[in-house]
Amino acid sequence: MLNDSQINEFHRDGFVVVEDFIDAASREALRERALQLVDEWEPHSESSQSVFTTDEQERASTREFLDSGDGIWCFFEPGAVDAEGNVTRPRHLAINKIGHAMHDLDPVFSEISHRPELAEVAADVGLTDPLALQSMYIFKQPGIGGEVGCHQDATFLYTEPISVKGFWFAIEDATIDNGCLWAAPGGHRSGLRQLFERTEAAGGIPAAHSTSDDDADSPGLTRFRELDPTPLPSPPGDLVPLEVPAGTLVVLDGLLPHWSDVNRSAISRHAYTLHCISARAQYPSWNWLQRSTPLRPLGATA
Ligand code: FE2
Repeated sequence: MLNDSQINEFHRDGFVVVEDFIDAASREALRERALQLVDEWEPHSESSQSVFTTDEQERASTREFLDSGDGIWCFFEPGAVDAEGNVTRPRHLAINKIGHAMHDLDPVFSEISHRPELAEVAADVGLTDPLALQSMYIFKQPGIGGEVGCHQDATFLYTEPISVKGFWFAIEDATIDNGCLWAAPGGHRSGLRQLFERTEAAGGIPAAHSTSDDDADSPGLTRFRELDPTPLPSPPGDLVPLEVPAGTLVVLDGLLPHWSDVNRSAISRHAYTLHCISARAQYPSWNWLQRSTPLRPLGATA
């Protein structure tokens, strides 16, 4: 699927932008299905209306968040929930994202995620025996779509050796105004800064920083462990914006530092992401995301 210059670009920069990868009908199918999932979603209780911000991911680590690796869960934008916990706008404009197993559990997401052309791209960028691990539909809502702090995906989806690759699909146009991705070209050649781990599986003492008053019944479920104190590039100056039209695929190396800003515009910026790892790598039991069923090879039919 990728030509030599695109493959070279991926190895040089840690990412490659492929325009016109996903057609309008498929984008619309994903968008409609995402809105339907939001509409049909039943939180287990009022208190399980999980608010999500990757800027403070450890604070969002409720039991529901940890269980969502195996299911389909909706996370609210902090800006859509008032101090009493009431959602202040229509739900389809209040959700930050849906995660994290639509690629396995939902027929529309599954069909699009496992198309052979994506498996070919994975092979082109050197991912051997790819397994589809995690999916997210990100809404980046107008006016409130939150910042996603600068990070490396391998922090959250670690394997030994590191193998994770991100496949990011623009469902709508992504611009600086509506909070497009930004990336640090070549930043994938630096080391992994930190790990995000389950404290229970890591046998660790619950971390003080991940305990909060408003999350008192699930204290310290996760924590960050520092591997390398070198700071990640500082946004926006150290990164370049990836303004791309709807239909574009961006492939991201798992070590590439990337970031996205708040969406301050009146236009949403929907995106779908699928993260894959190699079946040849070891997946530790302390990763936050754990599955009770085997991962499906990328491109395999359900
Ligand atoms: Fe990411």
